[in-house]
Amino acid sequence: ADSFDDGCDYLFKAVLIGDSAVGKSNLLSRFARDEFRLDSKPTIGVEFAYRNIKVGDKLIKAQIWDTAGQERFRAITSSYYRGALGALLVFDITRRATFGSLKKWIMELREFGDSDMVIVLVGNKSDLGNNREVGEEEGRSLAEKEGLCFMETSALENLNVEEAFMQMITKIH
Ligand code: GTP
Ligand code: MG
Repeated sequence: ADSFDDGCDYLFKAVLIGDSAVGKSNLLSRFARDEFRLDSKPTIGVEFAYRNIKVGDKLIKAQIWDTAGQERFRAITSSYYRGALGALLVFDITRRATFGSLKKWIMELREFGDSDMVIVLVGNKSDLGNNREVGEEEGRSLAEKEGLCFMETSALENLNVEEAFMQMITKIH
């Protein structure tokens, strides 16, 4: 490994996708830096963050890419997916429209993503249970139908965030 890898055995690229404002950027900042912002701005273009993770006796550098959910701010799709081994596909449990969009996101994943990419479906904002518009069972059964993993998370309360990323990363491994 060269100095850029700082001793890591593997570099894994993974991507975040899903509609605007579902919480992709906050899930990433929670995972990478344990930070959350109530007033975060929509992402423009592409950003990424790293975290080093120990899986068994291997040190893995996870490079997580985050892009805009808003079409007009998105970067070229094929380069975003290139080389990605995993994806977190995120919707917001309090907005049914973001669940309805999943079909479109799954089509994009199948078109641009690697066929053996590990995909975790994430229902975010589980702290807002009173405003829930998508039942946990609905998320789970869509994931089963599409052959994806599934987890509900809260970036705000830091619930299952680590687990969602780790499920993806350890399955890649
Ligand atoms: P784009 O960059 O436009 O695609 O949006 P995004 O998916 O990155 O959403 P972002 O992380 O910017 O979050 C959008 C809004 O939802 C912000 O106001 C966040 O504070 C809020 N938010 C994110 N995650 C949670 C969560 O788990 N619970 C609650 N209550 N709010 C959240
Ligand atoms: Mg964002």
